[in-house]
Amino acid sequence: VSGAHVPVLVIGTGYGGSVAALRLAQAGVPVHMVEMGMAWDTPGPDGKVFCHTTSPDRRAYWLRTRTKQPLSSFLGFPLDKDIPRYTGILDAEELGGITVYQGRGVGGGSLVNGGMAVTPRRPNFAAILPTVDAEEMYATYYPRANAELGVGLVDPDWFDTAACYQYARVGRRHAQRAGFPFVFVPDVYDWDYMEQEAAGTVPKSAVAGEILYGNNHGKKSLQQTYLARAAATGRVTVSALHRVTSVTPAPGGGYTVAVDQLDTGGATTAAKTVTADRVFFAAGSVGTSKLLVRLKATGALPGLNGEIGRHWGENGNVMCGRANHLWDPTGKVQAAIPCGGIDNWDAGGAFAEVAPLPTGIETYASFYLSITRNPHRGRFTYNAATGAVELDWQRAWKQPSIDMAKTIFDRINAKEGTIYRSDLFGAGKVWGDHLTYHPLGGAVLDKATDNHGRLHGHAGLYVIDGALIPGNTSVNPFVTITALAERNIEHIIAHDL
Ligand code: FDA
Repeated sequence: VSGAHVPVLVIGTGYGGSVAALRLAQAGVPVHMVEMGMAWDTPGPDGKVFCHTTSPDRRAYWLRTRTKQPLSSFLGFPLDKDIPRYTGILDAEELGGITVYQGRGVGGGSLVNGGMAVTPRRPNFAAILPTVDAEEMYATYYPRANAELGVGLVDPDWFDTAACYQYARVGRRHAQRAGFPFVFVPDVYDWDYMEQEAAGTVPKSAVAGEILYGNNHGKKSLQQTYLARAAATGRVTVSALHRVTSVTPAPGGGYTVAVDQLDTGGATTAAKTVTADRVFFAAGSVGTSKLLVRLKATGALPGLNGEIGRHWGENGNVMCGRANHLWDPTGKVQAAIPCGGIDNWDAGGAFAEVAPLPTGIETYASFYLSITRNPHRGRFTYNAATGAVELDWQRAWKQPSIDMAKTIFDRINAKEGTIYRSDLFGAGKVWGDHLTYHPLGGAVLDKATDNHGRLHGHAGLYVIDGALIPGNTSVNPFVTITALAERNIEHIIAHDL
């Protein structure tokens, strides 16, 4: 309701925002969450909430008229197609030099991601966030995050025989023959459900290839975990299809928050204002950075410091495929949820997930998403002429990531006598170096904020999402985002409320 007053307003409903909402509500504080994407709780005409990976419709993309698939071609054929413009679930946001994929809707990235729930090795965490007490993180907050998110591991015996993980077993064999450790990667997907899918006793989701545009079954997104528990407190309300455009100090204390209501074509149908005593920025690394950079530059929040918009990274994401021999098929049916990776972080700076290529046909291909120790960092700045926030990032900055991924795949190719695929990212291109799934940073802990996420310069404003992490987590990021949010909100509830 326009003109309303709320004690706490949370911008965004991804991991950071969901943790804040649940813990504040449990402490007795009413919370209002504002989410620019849709609620994703109502089936479409086909009876399903989410559309299928291989047949994207308007539900697939955030306000695009053509799909922008991470793998843009296959065997030389372009894969993208026209779709109606709609507030769909996956945003392929084109920023300077890089396409940043993000989830849009109540649940944020948890709606579209692979669910891989990885706790970094402790020395790696300590190197990334040196001002955070690692002892506390590994004793309390990582276990808490893993428990709340419902993280589990594939049953190794089932893995050994499941047809839908033949591609992962091929990946394991190739890794081990080249001398690399293959590790199982935990996931929030319901592994019992997946076994039933494979047995044909329940409706299929991951085993049918669902992932990028949402899973109709099996995946424990934030809708099933943190957000369900937050709603059960009776103290949390959510406005979907509402986008925060401004936050500025209110005359009588607290903050005035400007919010646009959107229709499913992306047009603004109403402009509203709400006042809040406290505001949590949880719009994701890109969303939070864009808001804060604009609010600082336009004078809406003049007290923010010079660290706003800095230390942004893409978790060193780079993709590639390998062409296997004809005696090494990877399987027609591939579970879309990855469950294993190749760890060469210490020696080569790369951790490679063995990823599916769920096309429904035998491809004889192995596909990988590598997370690498790319040292480059981008920066968000405000362009006063256009009013846009721009990212300074260059495609060439991915070269260290490619070099690090090659420490794994050059050796595997040499051992197997195989080559890279060059038909997945456009003709002749081996490396998917144009994208990231893992944006991090822009309002970094202990730099733009204090050591618990309080923004410098304006009491009552907080950052609690991936923007706090300076560009890299050494593994998939959402468990670290969740655990850090658990740590920070506990401190904030104890000291500020
Ligand atoms: P998150 O992005 O989750 O949420 C931010 C929310 O704020 C969004 O819902 C957005 O719509 C909303 N918002 C933004 N601006 C707003 C505004 N102005 N007003 C209102 N709302 C606004 N990670 C991992 O650990 N394991 C994995 O397997 C994968 N796989 C993966 C696959 C794909 C395809 C993607 C795109 C991403 C992943 N990830 C992943 C990454 C992971 O999903 C990501 O790191 C987290 O979702 C980030 O959590 P945050 O809380 O920072 O923001």
